[in-house]
Amino acid sequence: MRTIRAELGANSHNIYIGPGILGNTTFLLKETGLSGKVVIVTDPVIDGLYGQDLKRGLIQAGYKVTTLLVPRGEDNKSLETAGRLYHDLTDNYADRTTSILALGGGVIGDLAGFVASTYMRGVPFIQVPTTLLAQVDSSIGGKVAVDHGQIKNKVGAFYQPRLIISDTETLKTLPSCEMANGMAEVIKSAAIRNERFFAFLEDNLASIKDLDLPCLEETVFQTAKIKAEIVEKDERELGLRAILNYGHTIGHAIETVSELAIEHGKAVAFGMIAAARISHKMGILDYAGLNRLRELVGKADLPTQMPRMDKVATMQALKHDKKIRNDKIRFVLLKAIGDAFIADNVDLSLVEEVLEASET
Ligand SMILES: NC(=O)c1ccc[n+]([C@@H]2O[C@H](COP(=O)([O-])OP(=O)(O)OC[C@H]3O[C@@H](n4cnc5c(N)ncnc54)[C@H](O)[C@@H]3O)[C@@H](O)[C@H]2O)c1
Ligand SMILES: [Zn+2]
Repeated sequence: MRTIRAELGANSHNIYIGPGILGNTTFLLKETGLSGKVVIVTDPVIDGLYGQDLKRGLIQAGYKVTTLLVPRGEDNKSLETAGRLYHDLTDNYADRTTSILALGGGVIGDLAGFVASTYMRGVPFIQVPTTLLAQVDSSIGGKVAVDHGQIKNKVGAFYQPRLIISDTETLKTLPSCEMANGMAEVIKSAAIRNERFFAFLEDNLASIKDLDLPCLEETVFQTAKIKAEIVEKDERELGLRAILNYGHTIGHAIETVSELAIEHGKAVAFGMIAAARISHKMGILDYAGLNRLRELVGKADLPTQMPRMDKVATMQALKHDKKIRNDKIRFVLLKAIGDAFIADNVDLSLVEEVLEASET
């Protein structure tokens, strides 16, 4: 098991990563000083796979445990579901010392975290992420939210968990399309911050795809470390944290125009390549860097070509999403693999050019 300490003052906490560590949950909770009542929030599939064993272990160790089930899917990351959970918590006599444990992907983590941040003005929150995306991205950084009025993450808070337990063995049951989605964030993190880790991914991608446990552990550990270090420096996203949005500007526009038919990871994958091409066209990133990114994204079974869709609508969605001044747009660009920065002065016409030509 590997441990990362996220240093966030009074909200500092540990991130534990390793295969089979779900079995250590009781020990880790006790070590963190959490006792008493635990409410597990999960979906029916994850409950069957991991939730019931977890509940049994906690009960044997003397915890009072209730499981609250939420159906799968982004639709349930809503105020309505949060409202139902507040009722269920009250019915189960949850008080200010009751811990809420999110067992699942980013949907469960964001929703349960939002509920934990607001129920009785905040109760202890535990993240037990079971998707690659949740282990490397959504469980870290304290952003919790629900969607509202068609807008993702519209209502939310910054609320740090007391600990994060990432059992990499749970990824063995994850559908391969969900693995690819998570890999987009893994590649993004390496590309913006750590060339050595990027090289590790280039060398070990086949083993990661084969779910080799030591490789998965290293991948989750390195990616989680990149995110935790960025969040430590800029918890509230006033500056540096925005580099985590690399590939997400065009990615979000593609998701919007496709009405979410194109999955997040795939949209971000293309967005990363487009941003690298913009960096190259501006003379900031060399061709070798662009090519390395393109090859790794392709090997991870993610798209390297712009999906066939309305380019005008994509540009409109992009302009809608971002502040434009004098036909210039703010963009995260790459200087080199492992080195991203925020540019304020990217010409909209260059973005348009890159979206139109599918090859550099
Ligand atoms: N808070 C943040 O900083 C942050 C960052 C990125 C994304 N997000 C949010 O995360 C959400 C997406 O999360 P996601 O990609 O994890 O999707 P998800 O939570 O919808 O999970 C995907 C699917 O995988 C299933 N699943 C989960 N773990 C499994 C396992 N081990 N075995 C088999 N099936 C399993 C789930 O039941 C679900 O159907 C979005 O709502 C997004 O907004 C939040
Ligand atoms: Zn993302």
